[in-house]
Parts: sequence; structure tokens; C-alpha cells
Amino acid sequence: MKRETTIIGQSLLISQLKQLALQVAETEITVLIIGETGSGKEVLARFIHAHSQRSDKSFIPVNCGAIPAGILESELFGHEKGAFTGAVQSRKGYFESADKGTIFLDEIGEMPLETQVKFLRVIETGEFQRVGSSETIYSDARIIAATNKNMYQAVAEKNFREDLFYRLRSVELQIPPLRERGRDILLLAETFVHEFERKHTISFEGFSPDAAEMLMRYPWPGNVRELRNLIESLLVLEKGKYITPEILEKHLVQRNRYKSLVHDPSKSEKNELQVIYSSIIQLRQEISDIRQLLQLLIQTRPLNPLLLPNSAVPVPPLTANLIPVSTEESKIREPEALHSLDDIEKESIANALETFNGNKRKTAKALGITERTLYRKIKSYGL
Ligand SMILES: Nc1ncnc2c1ncn2[C@@H]1O[C@H](COP(=O)(O)OP(=O)(O)OP(=O)(O)O)[C@@H](O)[C@H]1O
Ligand SMILES: [Mg+2]
Repeated sequence: MKRETTIIGQSLLISQLKQLALQVAETEITVLIIGETGSGKEVLARFIHAHSQRSDKSFIPVNCGAIPAGILESELFGHEKGAFTGAVQSRKGYFESADKGTIFLDEIGEMPLETQVKFLRVIETGEFQRVGSSETIYSDARIIAATNKNMYQAVAEKNFREDLFYRLRSVELQIPPLRERGRDILLLAETFVHEFERKHTISFEGFSPDAAEMLMRYPWPGNVRELRNLIESLLVLEKGKYITPEILEKHLVQRNRYKSLVHDPSKSEKNELQVIYSSIIQLRQEISDIRQLLQLLIQTRPLNPLLLPNSAVPVPPLTANLIPVSTEESKIREPEALHSLDDIEKESIANALETFNGNKRKTAKALGITERTLYRKIKSYGL
């Protein structure tokens, strides 16, 4: 059996799902698959097709979200020559091509309302017309649809027809997210390791027990696809090397940084700035604590014989490498580095205020200080 028609997993959730899918496969029932991105919706649809009476006929996947709304109808139902500008010849649609086989409609929630009307009729009667034709065509295609959207919300917001939704979900199969599949994560990882060892002729030295534990704990927002991609890049970039938690973490962090930048660059920049600003403020606080501690140490120094100026063994002051101490004045002299921290803090606050368009509440939150402290600092720095 081909890889795509095998659902790898032995967890209870996946075993139950496979059982249900096998029962459904024997029937002609329309199935709606619901699951997060990359969780294996298409794999499940292929599995159902492969175990159905139709397995020797075509399985036609259509991504309704990837086809522009304007041409989805002609892609699904076909068109006649001259039906619209550019229709230089007549063409079969996916429903006709899937006759006797299975049509898999991915991202069904993205189907435009006009197309939904025509689609409902196909589900109910198997009949439709090509765009630009009045001739009724019949297709015996088994329909499996999938979505990662909250369809109840789409129905409530009138973006998806309620009658179509209930018709579609004659049987609803929920794919659990990868993070809920326990040791299946390792089983899948192992399968992908074998796949990519062969593909790239690499021999993999394995995961350390802690790294394997990390794979189990990671939330996998991109589900099985993310795991598969991670395994491929780990094998290729680390050249099959033994994977420790440090190496794994580096790759996971890189992937997520890239992902968040792709999704919303402005947001991720803001988040990074927030982290930098609050780290500076925290650092400032820690340095102030150290300063107080040192002052205390110096004040109590005469009590410590090792630190007495006339001690037989000359011991450098505890603080020698940290901050220069003037023994004459017996107090801390603020070195340049500390002075400039005020400037850094001032600049951080000014930048944070600018980032949040002067919004004091948001700025204070990002800096990890109270609004009152922020007001005080604004005043003292004359911002
Ligand atoms: N149980 C599984 N066993 C083996 N491979 C799997 C499994 N689930 C998913 N995969 C693999 O993970 C990848 C993503 O799977 P698939 O395309 O089916 O996910 P999807 O839910 O349809 O994703 P999307 O929401 O992006 O459409 C594919 O490479 C697929 O082969
Ligand atoms: Mg898919």
C-alpha cells in the first residue's frame, strides 16, 4: 500500500479513527473531515478511498481555498467553449473526472456561496451543468470534504449554507491534533527518519532520550506536516548527527521564528521589541539591586577581617572586577557603564512609547512596569 494511504499511529484516538474510517469506507456516505492544518485530512480521505469499492478508480483532490472564487465553478463542473472569455474549448470539470471514483474537496469552508448552491444539488442528485451549458450531466462521485475552519461559526456568519453543512456532515470524522497523540509522535518521527534516510542517503544516529521527550512535549501547531519537515531538515542540515535537546531546540526555534515572521511581521517585531525593552528594565533593576548589595558589603567590611585594609594577606576587594571602589571615600563610584544605563532606559521608554503610539497602558505592560512608574520615569527623563 502506498504511503499516503497508510495512517501511521497506534494511539487510542487514531486507532478509533481508523476503525470508523474503515466502516465509512464501505458505504457511499458523504464524509466531512475536520482537523487542524497538517493533521492528515488528505491522508484520511485517501485512506477511505483506498478501502472503498472505488479504490481502482480516481481520487481527485481539489483545494477549494487555493482556486480563485471566479474560476472554482468552472473547475468543479467544467465549461463549454465560449462560456466566458478565455474558454477556447470545452473542458471537463473535477466532478465529471471523479465519476465512479472519489472527489476530495479540501478547505470546503472557502467555497463561495454561489458555488455552494450548485454543489448542494450535486450532493443530493449527482446532477449539474457545465458553465455555459444547459445540458444536465450526472456524476457518480463519492464526496469527501475537509475543513480546518469552525464551520458552525461560518454558518452563523452566513458564509456557509446551513443546509449544505448538515448535508455534508452525514458522517463527521475529527482528526486529533498531533500533540494529543502521545507516542505516535515518535512513531511518525521514526517513519519519516526512514523515509529521509533513503531519500538523502543519510544514516541517522538517532535522538537522545531528552530530545525524544522534547518531541513529545512540543505543541506541533503545524501537526504531522511540521514534524515531517522538521525531520527532513534535521537529517539534512545536521548530516545525520545524534540529536540532543540543544540541537533540536535550535531547529524548533528557527522554524517558529520564521513562521511568525511570515504570518505577521509587524506583530513579531513588536513582540521582540517588548522582550528587549523589558529585559533592559529588568537588567536595570538587577544592577540597582547589586549596587545596593555592594554598598551594604562595603559598609559592613570592617567586620570582615579578610577585608580589613591592614590585613596580613592583601585581599583584593570583593568587588574589584565588578565595579571600581574608592577606598578613600568608602562608597561606590558610579562607572561610565552605569551612567549610560540611564540613557538606555530613557531610550527604551521613548522607543516603547513610540511603538505603542504613546499609549501608556500598553507601554507600561510591554516594559513590565506599572503605569505609575512609567509616568514617574517619563517625568524624570523629561520625555
Ligand atoms: N497519520 C499519518 N501517517 C503518515 N503521514 C501522515 C499522517 N498524517 C499526515 N501525514 C503526512 O503529513 C503531511 C500533511 O498531511 P495532509 O496533507 O493529509 O494534512 P492536511 O490536514 O490535509 O493539511 P492541510 O490542512 O494543510 O490541508 C503529509 O505529508 C502527509 O503525508
Ligand atoms: Mg489538505
